[in-house]
Amino acid sequence: MAERATLLPIRATPYPGAMTGDFSRKPTLTGDRVVLRPFREDDNPAIATALQDLEVIRLTGSEPLTWDEAAEQKLRDWYAARNTQPDRLDLAIEDRATGQWVGEVVLYEVDIRNANCTFRTLIGPSGRDRGLGSEALRLLLPYAFTTLALHRIELHVFDFNPRARRVYEKAGFQVEGIQREVLRTPDGWADAVQMAILNPDR
Ligand SMILES: CC(C)(COP(=O)(O)OP(=O)(O)OC[C@H]1O[C@@H](n2cnc3c(N)ncnc32)[C@H](O)[C@@H]1OP(=O)(O)O)[C@@H](O)C(=O)NCCC(=O)NCCS
Repeated sequence: MAERATLLPIRATPYPGAMTGDFSRKPTLTGDRVVLRPFREDDNPAIATALQDLEVIRLTGSEPLTWDEAAEQKLRDWYAARNTQPDRLDLAIEDRATGQWVGEVVLYEVDIRNANCTFRTLIGPSGRDRGLGSEALRLLLPYAFTTLALHRIELHVFDFNPRARRVYEKAGFQVEGIQREVLRTPDGWADAVQMAILNPDR
């Protein structure tokens, strides 16, 4: 017997109101202490320092990299390609006091149909605990919800990172749940907290 089609027909634009804005455009967003901007080639040394920083590695749950020529090349290739990605937004956080790269904010895993995405950030050793991460989010969120027309942004933060959680809560992210024991650390298993912010939460 021939297999019967059981799926409903898919309409080309089922939810036209849920389309997002243009992720291929990389804006410059200027605040008091930071500028969010596209990446530059001369950011690479500061990026390399941040990615080897033990606190960044620990708090983002990353594997420590063996820092050799191949890793350097991978970094150069990855960041050279950030400004032309059509389906995500990666922006450098520049410290206005120095004009230098101190970190990054990223909107990725964009689900256009449902106008949602995932957020991550990191700030290198020279930029932390100076209010820069909080201001970077304050600049990014209005752009994400207004210009990019997102409805929901989610993130995960490990339970041993109260500073990041504080920054996210200040920005309006709410806790939605706990992913139990998702990360193996030298101190044992760690949970991740799932948080999200909706456009109407702002
Ligand atoms: C998380 C991160 C982006 C925050 O940016 P930042 O510029 O360092 O943070 P800010 O200085 O803007 O704000 C830190 C806030 O946390 C608070 N804080 C600092 N340490 C804290 C702690 N141990 N417990 C609770 N709150 C803490 C500060 O008091 C401040 O809150 P306030 O403005 O109400 O006083 C940055 O520290 C970072 O990249 N860290 C390493 C990588 C990382 O954790 N990435 C996120 C993974 S989810």
